[in-house]
Amino acid sequence: MVAAHAAADGEALLDWNESPIGVPPQAAKRVIDAAHRIHRYPRGLMEEVAELAAIHFRVEPDQILLTAGVDEAIDLTLSLASRAWGVRPGFDGYEDRARANGKPFRPIGLGPDWQPTAPPDQAIGTSDIVFLAVPGNPTGNLLPATWIDAVRRSAGYTFVDETYAEFSSHSSLLEYVRGGADRRLLVYRSFSKAAGLAGIRLGCLIGAPEVIGDLQPLRRFMPIDAVSLHAAAGLLEEPEFLAELSAYVRRARPQLCSQLRASALFDDVRESEANFVLARPAAGSAPALFAQLARDRVRVKDAAVLGLPGWLRISVGTPQDHARLLASLGRVPTTPALLTSVGTCPVGAF
Ligand SMILES: Cc1ncc(COP(=O)(O)O)c(C=O)c1O
Repeated sequence: MVAAHAAADGEALLDWNESPIGVPPQAAKRVIDAAHRIHRYPRGLMEEVAELAAIHFRVEPDQILLTAGVDEAIDLTLSLASRAWGVRPGFDGYEDRARANGKPFRPIGLGPDWQPTAPPDQAIGTSDIVFLAVPGNPTGNLLPATWIDAVRRSAGYTFVDETYAEFSSHSSLLEYVRGGADRRLLVYRSFSKAAGLAGIRLGCLIGAPEVIGDLQPLRRFMPIDAVSLHAAAGLLEEPEFLAELSAYVRRARPQLCSQLRASALFDDVRESEANFVLARPAAGSAPALFAQLARDRVRVKDAAVLGLPGWLRISVGTPQDHARLLASLGRVPTTPALLTSVGTCPVGAF
């Protein structure tokens, strides 16, 4: 079920890692069916979705907190600690939310291969929460299990963000939450990526029942709306969509890398464990490349804001999106004279 999902305004959207195969059909059906009932509060719907999610993730319903995206999950869990940590390069949401909550944020630098170069900082202690995305964004890579274990031993709480887990060879840390082996571990799973529901900004925070129970009263009354809950319920009723979408990404990801490597514009292209790839424009080619993509209305993400200057993060998109990206790359002037003549185009516009 691969359909064309070009944006209405004609852009190729390869910047935010959204579903390349559209919406889960049962999610759309439930939203449409529910349209005639949105004069009602979402009575019982949070419980229904939490139960479906518990079955899907093989945990108990009291271990699930449905949150308005990762941001709400971060906000809530920041209340458990006085200081936050996260890796650089890494997802900027952890630092942004720590700042918004008035909590200090300490970056953990990764080495040139985007891996930790030393054991976790000895300053990490019981009043700290460490945020780790596995696979990471923008690196798309995994962190060594032994390093994560060492973090879990030192930190008050470890928040493992498994937003990209379905695209990865990594085995989920949910096994430690399931068995109750680590009551200070919180795992976040998003409905935005493999579930194809970025538009509802919904996720699941999964942890020990007593921790979830402590966070629950911090929430507003009925914090997730009926439309989002129906969409999530539809997805969980037909979870085969997750396998379909992740299989598509695993197939298309290496193909996209090969196509990018064939272009003379990049000096490094890396496949990731997520639904995007990374490409580094060769010296001097970035201005012309950015200018051409802008002209052709192809959006990719400049990974500089995520601590990876010089790299582009490119989503695995539809075949049409990829064709459009490659055609645009083919139009980038490559002779030194032409590169110079477009060198003033605003790099970073994307
Ligand atoms: C590591 C990571 N976590 C979470 C998110 C967002 O998830 P959600 O849409 O569920 O808030 C992103 C999106 O880019 C991400 O890269």
